[in-house]
Formats: sequence, structure tokens, C-alpha cells
Amino acid sequence: MRNQLLIIIIFSLVIGSCGNVEEIVLPSLVPEPISYEMITQELIDINLLEFNESINAELKDNSYQLTILNKEGSIVAADSIGLIYAHQTLRQLKDYCRNGKVPELRISDHPSFRYRGMHLDVARHMYDVADVKKYIDLLAYYKFNYFHWHLTEDQGWRIEIKKYPKLQSIAAFRDSTLIGHYSDMPHQFDGKKYGGYYTQEEVKEIVKHAQSKGITVIPEIEMPGHSLAALAAYPELGCEDIEYHTATKWGVFPEIYCPTEKTFSFLEDVIDEVVSLFPSKYIHIGGDEAPKDAWKKSKFCQELISSKNLKDEHGLQSYFIGRMEKYINGKGKQIIGWDEILEGGLAENATVMSWRGVEGGIEAAKAGHDVIMTPTSNCYFDYYQSVDDNEPLAIGGYLPMRKVYEWNPIPDNLEKDKHKFILGGQGNVWTEYMPTFDQVEYMAYSRLIALSETLWRGGSNKLEYSDFLERYIDHVKHWESEGVNIANHTLDLKHSIEKDEIGKLYIKIEDNIPNTTIKVASPMESRLLDDGEMRYEIDETGKYSFIASKGERVGRPCIIEVEKHKAMGCKISLQHEPNKAYPGYGALSLINGVSGPQDKYSGNEWLGFSGVPLDATMKLDSTIDIKSVQLTAFNSPGQWIYPPKSVELWIRSNEKEDFAKVIFNDKLDVVKNKIYTQNFVIDKKDVREIRILAQDHGVIAEGNQGAGNRAWLFIDEIVVK
Ligand code: ACM
Repeated sequence: MRNQLLIIIIFSLVIGSCGNVEEIVLPSLVPEPISYEMITQELIDINLLEFNESINAELKDNSYQLTILNKEGSIVAADSIGLIYAHQTLRQLKDYCRNGKVPELRISDHPSFRYRGMHLDVARHMYDVADVKKYIDLLAYYKFNYFHWHLTEDQGWRIEIKKYPKLQSIAAFRDSTLIGHYSDMPHQFDGKKYGGYYTQEEVKEIVKHAQSKGITVIPEIEMPGHSLAALAAYPELGCEDIEYHTATKWGVFPEIYCPTEKTFSFLEDVIDEVVSLFPSKYIHIGGDEAPKDAWKKSKFCQELISSKNLKDEHGLQSYFIGRMEKYINGKGKQIIGWDEILEGGLAENATVMSWRGVEGGIEAAKAGHDVIMTPTSNCYFDYYQSVDDNEPLAIGGYLPMRKVYEWNPIPDNLEKDKHKFILGGQGNVWTEYMPTFDQVEYMAYSRLIALSETLWRGGSNKLEYSDFLERYIDHVKHWESEGVNIANHTLDLKHSIEKDEIGKLYIKIEDNIPNTTIKVASPMESRLLDDGEMRYEIDETGKYSFIASKGERVGRPCIIEVEKHKAMGCKISLQHEPNKAYPGYGALSLINGVSGPQDKYSGNEWLGFSGVPLDATMKLDSTIDIKSVQLTAFNSPGQWIYPPKSVELWIRSNEKEDFAKVIFNDKLDVVKNKIYTQNFVIDKKDVREIRILAQDHGVIAEGNQGAGNRAWLFIDEIVVK
């Protein structure tokens, strides 16, 4: 009989609060200052203090010292920016001491990275001026210093350019918008006109607001790709004599600017107006995801490649970016571009934003270029932040807050003398799936708080994640009381699955936040092996459930469904490792009895392979009869994820035999929505080892998302019966 066992673990409750006489603690600050000390336990009402302010130019740039001592407050800052940071710290001290009292304290603080940015895409969806200002306020509160404003896209042009009125009347609008996820087929549309733009007056207002908070606004004007909306307004800027329409769905489009003199004049005019609005020394010119189809077909482009002695279309993109860079440099500004601007040769003074990983950033730093790190694996806040099924629809992926907090923008394998080129990092908020600002708050606010500490304190000064989480909870309470739709996944329990030397499998619950209570239910009398470790043996098919609570707050249940099968916990080896961005538990993810979510490739149960096949060999515990082997892969072409091109299955009875191929299958007739499954019925006796070789799809064909790139292969549990 399966009985439900309820184990309640209660940790001793020690909660400090400012002003509590028994235990005086420093108020919760994020980012935690570099040096933060309690001088005495004397409590001072911070709201009654006058602060003496002074500038000491001898201090490190942007640094400040804040002291509360002998009933007096003082701020000494290196410069006006340091003064702004001191005031943000003061605001936080007030916000997190609810009775207004703080102990005597001293803070000496400075940022570790020069560039601490947050991005916002207002093209896929746009937000009120008041919301953009609210976003900037939040960045300021957490001491970011750059707001990267993504203003132009295929789906809409959002900045008023007076010389080109059709950017306002045509490019700023689309006829309809995709409903649901891009991967849901067939695509459906809402049929409603959507759009708008920020007037130059509004832009000025936003820039001024940001400036007053120590934040520089970097405008992004995309080129040569992501330019369909501009082409809809001015089709003569394209290579083809066709009708263009502002895009109504997401993705990458083959229609891009043609590198004609007309296009350069247009873009130079646009830049003229842009530089007059933004004091930033940087202008972002995009450069990402520019398919070369139109340039390949264009007689004009081919002649240009030949007359300029360029190697190919990548050389032509490099020429395009280089030419715009010269123009922008001529205005006393510098360009930033996404890492594709490395292809075909990097423009002379460009700063590279490395998003497809860190490799582009490493290459640029090695060539002596400044770099801003924004890899998808740690900085894409449009990805899911929890694997909970109730999360709002997102683009895909999985980026929990911990992965943001524990990230170091300086890659391990970058030589020390090149570290200086890594200016810092940035969180990106692409808004395909965020039609309202409420959703931006949900997706961005939690992770940007973690990022603020990552960038402020840097890799070497970083604290334990559990320390950050304790402080984060106070911040969640604060923003909730301000009506912000901030996500709180801190009580969503994180688990991992482990295997011991003899092949037994365990669920391990990670107690992120100290002082939580965890309720456990499992199908069998599953043993709590070690109070400290919270490991539960997986010994039955069924649901294992865990719920955390802290005070009145209760987390969402963490439910792990286990399906026992014959290869569960067996020895397994992989010929090729999964990509570092999607490593799961390594090969264990394939045979741990647990399947990943069926509608997203997030979490540790899916392994993501890039450019290599799945080649797994499983050695069963004994020689047994096998009826079937089932392979599951993810299918989401919109996210560059394709099922395998072919699958081979090999078996043998013992190590002395050669493997015999029992199945070769190159037909994909079992794709259902996002899941591909192949159940190979083999009915074989005396099987000891199984090898499964699934070839990846290869290069994505023209006309599809990610065309020209190698498709990803995502694999879930291999079920042997
Ligand atoms: C990007 O995410 N296309 C830069």
C-alpha cells in the first residue's frame, strides 16, 4: 500500500529586523555595498538626520562613503555620480528600516564594473512614457548606469524622425499581432492594428529623467537587419522591388536594408536626429540577425562586393557597419553592435555586445575592443525564470535568478590582461511575450535585482546566493507594497537528481532560503536520508511533492513525477557533451526516470546539443530482455530547435561482441506539437548495452528562423522497457 508520508522540517526561526533591540542587524541592501559595517548598536532615526555632503575628487571614480555616527550623517562622494549612488543607498536604508531606525554604520562603496546595463525592447510592444520612467527609476534604485533602449524593429519603429514622416504614419504600426507562442502552429493573429511611437519631446523627457538619476540612455537603431518596418515606410531602401509590411509576427526576416547610397543617406539623416536627442557617447546600431538572402540575389550588392573587393555578403555587412561607424564617429560618438558585427571584420572603434554566448566577446576583447557581456544563458530576462507550469507564456529557455546572481561577466578562459576590455554586463528584455508593462515587471524586476549585485560587486566580491536571497525577500515585500508585479520564486523549491556509486537515484531539495519549512509527500515511505542534506531516495513510480513556506508565505508545490524503467540509473556515457548552456545533469538527465516539461525545454531534464549528435551508450545493470526504447526530442523551429535528422539504435549482449544495428530511422512522423517521440519496438533478448545515435538536424534552411545557423537538438529521458 502506498501511504503518504508527511515530514515537516522546521528550522529555528531567527529573523532580525532593524530597530529590534534584542538583535540589531544592518538593513537589507541590494546591491550590497563593497564595505558595510555596524559601528555601534546605537539606534538613530534616519528620517531625522541631516546629511553633510561633500565631494572628494581623490576617491575612486563614482565611489562614495556614507557614515552615520554620533547622531550625524555624512556623505563624501568622488563625483556627482557617486553622490547619486549614496542617495540611492540612503533611500534603501530608509525603505528597509520600517521603524526608521538604523544602527551607527559606515559604508564605503564603488561599482566593480563600469557598464551596468538594462535593455528594453519597446518595438515588439511599447509602453507609456510613465512606465519607461518607472523602469529607469528602478534601474537607478539598483545603481545601474545604462538604459539600452531598443527603438526600431521589424514589428515597429518607435522614435519620431522628423525628416521621415512615414516612419510615424506607417513604420510605427502593424496591422495585426501573433496570438500565442511562435511555435504554435498554425499561426493565429488578433487582427488589431498596433503601434505608436515616442515623440522627440517624449524622448527628451525620458533622457532628461534618466540623466537626473545617473543613467545614460543608449538608443538602438537597428541595421542592416530587423528593418522591415522602415522598409514598409520607405520600400526604396530595400533591395527588391516588392511591397513590404511591418511584421505581424516575431522572428528574423530576410528583408533588410540594401547598402545603396539612398539607404546610407536615410540612416545618416536618422542618426543626425538621434544624436541630437541622446547625449550618450554610444549609439547602438544593432547588426544582429541580418539574413543575406536579399543581398545574395541583388545584382547591385554583388557588384558592390566586387567593386569594393569584399569577400562575400559578410564582408558587405562589415562594409555597411564600418561606413555607419565612420559617420557616427564623425559626430563624436561610438558604436555598439551585437556580436554578429564581428563577422566579416570588426569596425575600428566598435564595442561588442556579446549575446550568442561569450565567445564573440572573448574574440573582440582579444582584438582589443571593448565588450559588454549579455549572453542568453545569463542575461535574457525574456526566458522563463521558473519551471513551474503556471508561469506566464514566455519565449522559451530557462534562466533562474540564481544563474544571474552567480554569473561572472568575465569569462574564466579570458587572459588576465584582456579583462580590462570587459566593461560589464547587461540584462535584456525582449518583449514579444510582454504586451503590458505589468508583464515587463514580472519578467525583469526579480532578475535585474540579482544582476545589479553581480555587476556592482563583480565576480570576486560576490556573496553567497542564500545571503542575497534573504535580502531579496525584503525587496520583494517592498515592491509589492508599491504595487509592482515582481516575481517571487524564492519559495519555489529547487531540486536536483543525483545518483550514488551503486546506481541509486535521489531527489535532493536545495534549501535556498534559510528558515523555511518544507512539507514532503512521496509515493512510498521514502526515507529522509539526512536532515541536513534533504535527499530522498527515488524508489517507486509516482509523484514526489515538496512545498516550502516561510512565515505566511507559501511557495508553489514542487512535484517530480518518476516513471521507473529498465535503464533508470544505469551506467551511461556520452560521446559528445551537451552544450554548456544546457547541460542538465549531464548524461544522468537521460536515464533518471524523470521527464522534462513537454511544452518548454527548460530545466535539467532536457539536454541541449549544438553542432553534435546525441551519441549515448547505456550499460544495463544485468543482461535482460528489452521490448522497446523510446527517444524524446524537443521540436521548436522558431527557437532554432529541431528533432534529429535520423536515429540509429545498436545493441549487444556483452562487451566482447560488436554492437549490432537494430534500427535506422530517418522518418519524422511522430512530431506532436513541441515533442518528437520515437518508440522503437525491438523485442530483443539478452541485451546488456544499448547505443543510441541521433544526428542533429544540421544547418537551418533559408526562410526559417535562424537560417544558416546549426539547429539545436534537445533530448529528454530515454525510456527502456
Ligand atoms: C538578439 O537577441 N537578437 C540580440
